[in-house]
Amino acid sequence: MRSPKDFFRPLAVGAPTPVREVPFRPSRMIHFFDPGNEKMAAKIPAIAPTVDVLLGNLEDAVAADRKEAARAGLVAIAKATDFGNTQLWTRVNSLDSPWVLDDLITLVTEIGDKLDVIMVPKVEGAEDIHYVDRLLAQLEAKAGTERPILVHAILETPTGVANVEEIAGASPRMQGISLGPADLAASRRMKTTRVGGGHPGYLVREDPQGDAPRATYQQDLWHYTIARMVDACAAHGILPYYGPFGDIKDTVACEDQFRNAFLLGCVGAWSLHPVQIAIAKKVFSPAPADVAWARKVIAAMGDGTGAVMIDGKMQDDATYKQCQVVARLADELAA
Ligand code: GLV
Ligand code: MG
Repeated sequence: MRSPKDFFRPLAVGAPTPVREVPFRPSRMIHFFDPGNEKMAAKIPAIAPTVDVLLGNLEDAVAADRKEAARAGLVAIAKATDFGNTQLWTRVNSLDSPWVLDDLITLVTEIGDKLDVIMVPKVEGAEDIHYVDRLLAQLEAKAGTERPILVHAILETPTGVANVEEIAGASPRMQGISLGPADLAASRRMKTTRVGGGHPGYLVREDPQGDAPRATYQQDLWHYTIARMVDACAAHGILPYYGPFGDIKDTVACEDQFRNAFLLGCVGAWSLHPVQIAIAKKVFSPAPADVAWARKVIAAMGDGTGAVMIDGKMQDDATYKQCQVVARLADELAA
């Protein structure tokens, strides 16, 4: 059996992150579906080729009396479907729930060789990841699966945020972390009742200038947590994601929220409805003009040291590395 460590590779020289990183697989949109919902399940073979990741959700949004049907539905869909290059993930129930043990045992035993990543909700510290890691190792050994299932944590409690660095580095199985803004808002006692996105009351007001009307600017509720999560993930060579955006009709704000996360370093977001698939694909793929500029700088910088002026802008070793991030993402997505 391959060890989880085999899944990491040394970084390219000059790359701006540390000693190991999760191998690249596109994951711009993690598309959630309810595997117990027969209507939704029937659409999975058609949706699979249009997304990077399909995620069979067993946790919140699946009612308590439908947990077993959802788990059984996921097993049936995974067995019956050829997902091609699309990854299959699941979100299991939380570690303090009565369902998670059966989720893990059933899924690894029945479809362990089809599952790429298990998303664990409400992770609070390294001990949660150690528990899942150990259990997965035992179940994989018993099932005789060929490759380790990776682990993705949702950051959605204040304790989890306080421990985000240790969570990111808790196991070589760690693939990434998503922001969970709804649970995080509740457990922090924030006063938003939305799933992600902004709030019109969270604003700054321009200082008074005589009697002129004073402009207000809405602020980003999630900036602090996303920035912490991105740093923790980059330091440990794993991938950060914005999570859900619940106002399906507000495609403009969804795109803005996804783009803010992309610009801060996130590689993808959850899609909760087919309309969000195209938004995530657009936002988390670097724009052609940005890629062209990055390649121009890289070409002009030769071995990547020194300084050059391009179109009046100073470029040096650091901007060369910034441009490598953009160009490399474009190459990886095109591969
Ligand atoms: C996701 O699980 C969230 O709570 O936002
Ligand atoms: Mg949640």
